[in-house]
Amino acid sequence: MRMIHLNLITSFVSLLAWGSLAGAFHLDIYEPRVPPKLLEYLQDMDNPYPPSPERIEAGREIYFGKGLCVTCHSHDGKGVELPGHTPRDFTDPKWQDIRTDGEMMWVLRNGSPGTQMPVRVGKVISEEEGWNVIHFIRTFSQAD
Ligand code: HEC
Repeated sequence: MRMIHLNLITSFVSLLAWGSLAGAFHLDIYEPRVPPKLLEYLQDMDNPYPPSPERIEAGREIYFGKGLCVTCHSHDGKGVELPGHTPRDFTDPKWQDIRTDGEMMWVLRNGSPGTQMPVRVGKVISEEEGWNVIHFIRTFSQAD
């Protein structure tokens, strides 16, 4: 009985260790956030809508409104401090360059496992609203 107990504690401790190790790897904000086998497919996926002023405006309303994006990603897109994985700095031109719309859509549909990024598309916003908010996120790179 006692042995089992000890074993449980040891597995728990090693789980914690693995967790923080994985956390350390995730700190590289340029690393892809999607399953590796989908990466190529998502990188080829285009935003089906053109980035018109109307769509950017609609995306802004989602960001500050029902998408609740602003609570974690902040009004200027730089992100608020969160325990664990801090949100991306959306104003970082290198991040903007590396990350594709298709990858962002995957995160909006699935959340970012192991982080506080929640599922948005299909839950609080529609697919089209998701593409619009991605157009809005792109405007942060021109902000500075
Ligand atoms: C509860 C906090 C929270 C909310 C609400 C939230 N996010 Fe996030 N978001 C995060 C965190 C934390 C990350 C970083 C996750 C990671 O490391 O992969 C993230 C990551 C992302 C990414 C992926 C970044 C990358 O590098 O690929 C996108 C895109 C994104 N969020 C957009 C949004 C949008 C758009 C909304 C609103 C519709 C939103 N988020 C709402 C916390 C949040």
